[in-house]
Amino acid sequence: MVKICCIGAGYVGGPTMAVMALKCPEIEVAVVDISEPRINAWNSDRLPIYEPGLEDVVKQCRGKNLFFSTDVEKHVFESDIVFVSVNTPTKTQGLGAGKAADLTYWESAARMIADVSKSSKIVVEKSTVPVRTAEAIEKILTHNSKGIEFQILSNPEFLAEGTAVKDLYNPDRVLIGGRDTAAGQKAIKALRDVYAHWVPVEQIICTNLWSAELSKLAANAFLAQRISSVNAMSALCEATGADVTQVAHAVGTDTRIGPKFLNASVGFGGSCFQKDILNLIYICECNGLPEAANYWKQVIKVNDYQKIRFANRVVSSMFNTVSGKKIAILGFAFKKDTGDTRETPAIDVCNRLVADKAKLSIYDPQVLEEQIRRDLSMARFDWDHPVPLQQIKAEGISEQVNVVSDAYEATKDAHGLCVLTEWDEFKSLDFKKIFDNMQKPAFVFDGRNVVDAVKLREIGFIVYSIGKPLDSWLKDMPAVA
Ligand code: UDX
Ligand code: UDX
Ligand code: ADP
Repeated sequence: MVKICCIGAGYVGGPTMAVMALKCPEIEVAVVDISEPRINAWNSDRLPIYEPGLEDVVKQCRGKNLFFSTDVEKHVFESDIVFVSVNTPTKTQGLGAGKAADLTYWESAARMIADVSKSSKIVVEKSTVPVRTAEAIEKILTHNSKGIEFQILSNPEFLAEGTAVKDLYNPDRVLIGGRDTAAGQKAIKALRDVYAHWVPVEQIICTNLWSAELSKLAANAFLAQRISSVNAMSALCEATGADVTQVAHAVGTDTRIGPKFLNASVGFGGSCFQKDILNLIYICECNGLPEAANYWKQVIKVNDYQKIRFANRVVSSMFNTVSGKKIAILGFAFKKDTGDTRETPAIDVCNRLVADKAKLSIYDPQVLEEQIRRDLSMARFDWDHPVPLQQIKAEGISEQVNVVSDAYEATKDAHGLCVLTEWDEFKSLDFKKIFDNMQKPAFVFDGRNVVDAVKLREIGFIVYSIGKPLDSWLKDMPAVA
């Protein structure tokens, strides 16, 4: 019986191993983490992450061939394949601060593997890491190995949050990178056999280690670039009377371009896009390629511009002042169907409005109040100017921010409402009721283009959508953009 262990029970490790256990009933899968609360949550009825369909998968295998444990060393010792899925945040201090990946957790995991292992193992990089991390890990493992053989593979995960289970069931591809030696190829085959339980073999791509590591950074950079491209277009659409949805549709029907990932928005968020691009920028710089680095910097700069442009529009439309005005924030997560708030555009938008003395009433179906307060009081790291740290004032947060448990409460007596996450439930709100309970004029700022702007204008709202012509209301109100 093959035994698999995964170090790191987070957004990637948890769902990936749960699906692997479900699809490979004869393989024993242990997910281990140093965080006791996290492991306790995985073993409880309330999983530590919200992901559609995940609870079902976990319930089917937990206690059979899927185990969650804090006994990291025991499970590593017993396993044949060790996945490493620990966090790799952006460094905030020292060399590469603001851009480079912090591999502290990775290194400590590698040293622990070398320390406890008494038999040969395949060590799989699952977390996204800089190119040539495998080389460093190999060195740590082999120099501390007491004669045991380790094969290192890169097997980046491409799942997106909110659709993790679906993505894991039906991945576009599985990517496995390994050494070009006989032992390296044997390790690739062993991992390929695991995935072949449910993924067609022609969709399992095998490459060298460096291509696999770089492909993950490249895929995220390309995806984020599409969003920044369409968001840059949205600004021009607003200025010219073009409609970004129409433009995106017309552009996306070219099969060379394709229709996906062209939704204009208040900006992209999530734990991957910004972090991975910063990482890519740093690697380009370290390799003496400043032009390539600058190219990718623009993707993040446009994203920052889009978030601030949105917040500025809120202030300028409401007669250049939001001081003391209640503004409802609908949605705080970085996308729908997740409670994750890492790098969510809501943080920058809310901070900007708080700085202008607005009173925010925030509602998100999945994000807890403590999380929202923590996010809004956190020091923001200015990636483009890492020194000195830019400390956004946390002062106003406690008095100016209120977190509530439904959209009607959030919007009651508000002057404006901002949709920052595309939760399905926001599409079917009773906007007539919301309008009646708001101050007039009542403004809607749709950062995700999910509300029916025509219908809302009929009700009486002044509607601002991303990349849409500012039509009807311009007639009776001077533009103040
Ligand atoms: C382009 C558009 O494709 C077409 O839709 C538009 O109507 C006119 O402009 P064209 O310039 O004729 O057409 O050729 P295209 O195939 O797009 O190639 C343009 C250049 O890009 C060529 O120099 C080509 O060699 C280069 N190219 C194209 C690449 O370097 N890599 C590629 O993957 C594709
Ligand atoms: C991303 C990649 O999609 C995934 O392959 C990788 O493994 C991890 O990073 P994730 O961050 O979970 O996944 O979500 P994704 O769906 O890519 O969305 C990222 C951000 O882009 C969200 O804030 C989303 O709202 C935004 N987005 C996405 C847009 O603004 N417009 C779009 O058209 C698509
Ligand atoms: P991701 O989104 O990449 O899955 P997360 O932050 O959600 O990242 O998860 C990473 C997990 O890795 C965390 O739960 C953290 O406690 C765990 N972790 C970090 N270092 C170690 C380690 N040395 N041993 C075990 N678990 C670790």
